[in-house]
Amino acid sequence: MSDRISAPKGVPEYLPPDSATFLAVHEALAAPAILAGYGYVELPVFEDTNLFVRGVGESTDVVSKEMYTFTDRGNRSLTLRPEGTAGVMRSVIEHGLDRGQLPVKLWYRGQFFRAERPQHGRYRQLQQFGIEAIGSDDPALDAEVITIADDGYKSLGLTGYRLELTSLGCAEDRPAYRDLLVGFLAGLDLDDATRERAQLNPLRVLDDKRPEVQAQLADAPLMLDHLCEACAEHFAAVRSLLDANEVTYVINKRMVRGLDYYTRTTFEFVHDGLGAQGGIGGGGRYDGLMAQLGGQELSGIGFGLGIDRTFLACRAEGLTPGPTRSLDVYVVPLGEARTRAALLVTELRRAGIRTDLSFGSRGLKGAMKGADRSGAPYTIVIGERDLEAGECQLKAMDSGEQVAVPLDEVAAHVAHLISTSSISGTGSVSGTSSTTDDKKELP
Ligand code: HAM
Repeated sequence: MSDRISAPKGVPEYLPPDSATFLAVHEALAAPAILAGYGYVELPVFEDTNLFVRGVGESTDVVSKEMYTFTDRGNRSLTLRPEGTAGVMRSVIEHGLDRGQLPVKLWYRGQFFRAERPQHGRYRQLQQFGIEAIGSDDPALDAEVITIADDGYKSLGLTGYRLELTSLGCAEDRPAYRDLLVGFLAGLDLDDATRERAQLNPLRVLDDKRPEVQAQLADAPLMLDHLCEACAEHFAAVRSLLDANEVTYVINKRMVRGLDYYTRTTFEFVHDGLGAQGGIGGGGRYDGLMAQLGGQELSGIGFGLGIDRTFLACRAEGLTPGPTRSLDVYVVPLGEARTRAALLVTELRRAGIRTDLSFGSRGLKGAMKGADRSGAPYTIVIGERDLEAGECQLKAMDSGEQVAVPLDEVAAHVAHLISTSSISGTGSVSGTSSTTDDKKELP
């Protein structure tokens, strides 16, 4: 067994039945964006390394410490995407989407890669659902983006999270604030590495988790208190639109995002049930990003919602979105009935009924054990005698009740039963007999 190969460290896998919940989380998060007219983009998983260096920022941990970068056979430096926004912008510029109707509204999902120290909820391969809306600085767009995220979480039934909101200002008010902060930090008792960081990216020092640093930051100047008039008005408008949408939020003046492109409205969704990795989603405006990547001067806003962490949040709240079972019917053929059973399985599936077959030549007892384990609420048994009579035996697994149904009617019959049964799939079959030989009238 020593040569067994394991999955790489820090990479989560979702197997049935969890994988059904994972998919349902993704679908629930995507639904409000689709309703708002966002179009799907499928983008490369690796990009030119420079895209992230220029787009996300050289001094961020994501770029300086966490990228999976490699040189390809043509000696090009490529990087597994650590996030989605830079790639969307690259694609919008490259394909000229910004020359059409604005804002360009796009959604994406998929794997992202960050060489972080793995722990509960922090993975090296993570999955996000994201949207980007490019080409408008209307505060209504900020409110739309945030409301879409909040509606997605709410539709899953999540309640144990909060939306944190701030504004990081713009190119006008940032330099003055930056000088103020650098001046403040210069007066503190910091180690050399932190001093260096204070020069390179002073905002990031505000996020230093060490208590001795935090203690000195209590009186640090905060961006939200130093917004220019236009940014203050924009932020006020976003807030009142969120209030109108009944999206609740708290202001977090000390929010520091891990990516450098943010301007103005910036937000995070934080769940209380996940320990240290409570950030289930985050986003904001990035009004200078497009120009920085060689495109037009267009503003934009978006978010990335962590599907892995939203899955964990659902679990923490005891929520299991998605189908409660994967099958409706399990078909058990006996003896010579195998060929007809195979056709029946195909007929049922073509009628939209989730159906599996008992494979191999198991006896009735073994096959019925398989039927039980499959979780399907109905089992259809076809024996040789049924075949002669043109029938099959339809059994409701919860009650054990069984009826004979003509083979050419069974698909319609089961479809009717499923559509009229409860969500858990425990609809009953008429009839009282539990022996396979009993032939009953259809209900
Ligand atoms: P981000 O905050 O770096 O933003 O990531 C968004 C979400 O991805 C986080 O809130 C978290 O739920 C999830 N996530 C991040 N890293 C990990 C990890 N190592 N393991 C598990 N989950 C993780 C962005 O990526 C921006 N591109 C979002 C955005 C789009 N901003 C504007 N548009």
